[in-house]
Parts: sequence; C-alpha cells; structure tokens
Amino acid sequence: MIEKKEIQKINIKPVDKVVMAEKEIPQKAVRMESRNLTVKYGQVTGVKNISLPVYNQTVTALIGPSGCGKTTFLRSLNRMHDLTRNALVTGEVLLDGVNIYEPRINPVAIRRKIGMVFQKPTPFPTMSIFDNVVAGLKLVGIRDKKLLNEVCEKALRQAALFDEVKDRLGSPGGSLSGGQQQRLSIARALAIEPEVILMDEPTSSLDPLASAKIEELILELKENYAIVIVTHNMQQAGRVSDHTAFFYMGELVEFGTTSKLFTNPVNKRTEEYLTGKFG
Ligand SMILES: Nc1ncnc2c1ncn2[C@@H]1O[C@H](COP(=O)(O)OP(=O)(O)OP(=O)(O)O)[C@@H](O)[C@H]1O
Ligand SMILES: [Mg+2]
Repeated sequence: MIEKKEIQKINIKPVDKVVMAEKEIPQKAVRMESRNLTVKYGQVTGVKNISLPVYNQTVTALIGPSGCGKTTFLRSLNRMHDLTRNALVTGEVLLDGVNIYEPRINPVAIRRKIGMVFQKPTPFPTMSIFDNVVAGLKLVGIRDKKLLNEVCEKALRQAALFDEVKDRLGSPGGSLSGGQQQRLSIARALAIEPEVILMDEPTSSLDPLASAKIEELILELKENYAIVIVTHNMQQAGRVSDHTAFFYMGELVEFGTTSKLFTNPVNKRTEEYLTGKFG
C-alpha cells in the first residue's frame, strides 16, 4: 500500500502539478467571489476593483508587497470592515452566489461561516486557554460541557497545540508564548467549524516546526474547506496553495494556478516580484 505521505510526494512533482492544477480549476465549485470590490479608508484606497473567485477544497494564496491590499481584501471577505469606522466597501462579495453585503445579511452569521485567523495572535489574555478556544461556541449558547471538551481538544490538536497545553487548560491565554497564542487563535477559529477559513500571515510569528505543522493542517483542512491565506513566504505559497493572486498597489495584477503563476507568470510585475526584484 502506498503511504499518504508518498502520494503527496508524487503529486507535487512540478510537471504533474501543472497538468493537474489546470485540469482541476473547472472541477471545483466557486465558493466565494468578489466582484468589482473596492475598499477605501477615507481618501486612501486599500483595494481597487478586485474580481476574484475562491474555489471550494482549494487553497488560494494572496501575495504582494507590503501595503498592496492583501489584508484589506481578506477582511472584506467576512465583512470585518463593518468594524472599521472610516472604511467604505463597494462592489460585491458572493458566498455561494449570495452577496454578503446585502442589508438583510447578518454579519455575525457570516463570520461564523467564514472564520478568520489574524496576522497578530488575538487571544483574550485573561480568559483561560479552554475558554479562549470555545469562546465562539459559548457565544451562541452552547453549554454542554462534554461537547465543549471534545471540541476544545479537537481544535487544539488540529492547531498542533494540544500536547503543550493539555495540563494547563485553565491558565490564562495571555500566559502562552507568541507562537502558542497564534496557534490558540487558529484553534479558536477552527472550533466554530467555519466553511471558509481566512488566514492573514498565520505563521509569521511561528518557528519552522510550528509553521510546518500549520502548513500540514492547511493541506488537511482544504479537503473540506475553502481557504484563503495571505503570505509573504513564497515557498509557503508554493507548498500549500493551488491558486495564487498577486496584488500590487491595491490592484489584482494576476491570478492563476500557483504552478503556472510561479513558473510562467504573464505579467512582468509578477515575475519581478517573484524573482525578488522588489517587495
Ligand atoms: N484602517 C486603515 N485606515 C487607513 N488606511 C489603511 C487602514 N488599513 C489599511 N490601510 C491602507 O490601505 C493600504 C493596504 O493596506 P493592507 O493592510 O491591506 O496591506 P497589506 O498588503 O496587507 O500589507 P502587509 O503585507 O504590510 O500586511 C495601505 O496603503 C494601508 O496604509
Ligand atoms: Mg497585511
């Protein structure tokens, strides 16, 4: 029998990947889609006119130099800008064909379906590790201790944190190291079992081993979810993503399968960025 690991090795041979990835695009359903999406902060334009599909069971990487609008775009996918006073969003974001910016849509319900992991760890510092993980479930009234215990353990295991904290689930979230806090934030996002997961540079504060675990987790999760990840690490984008979108100065410059975009980009700016000429 071929081990799972070996199958993965076979699949990532460059030639196979190009052929497979190109064939795969039309087979997966579009889960989310932005249409002519523009976000302005007062006079400052965060992103301009972005139309981008996010496919199911697929990892989509957002790359580009600092300040190009990656976080702005990501936050627009679950209506996080509702919480920013000076942000103005125009255009549409569809989830399964429905515009999540329609007035009848409840943004809290959207954020349950579309989970987010932020660039900086976001634990509630005085709340226990356990309560941090199940905070989202408690918010919707789930009190069943056995269920909460199960969800907590599963989410912590998925986020590769369980072994380090299993004996101190009652300690405050703020007592963990930065990297552990980031994995705690990931566990909290997973505990609500979202359908789409948005990750903003989730491994930028992690050591190589913890980063590798998170990358493994992303590959596991994509079997069931649509994932969008912002990363400055091109090797990481190459390892985990199927599709890549290159942003530059608030605009979407190029979108395609990661293998095509990395090996044969159409736009000169994409090529210059990938070869380290700027960024
Ligand atoms: N709350 C805000 N108010 C005003 N301007 C903002 C705000 N948030 C972002 N911007 C501006 O919007 C633009 C895009 O920022 P964004 O944070 O999306 O970039 P980014 O690609 O995520 O950068 P980085 O790689 O550094 O995280 C930048 O010019 C930034 O200064
Ligand atoms: Mg950012």
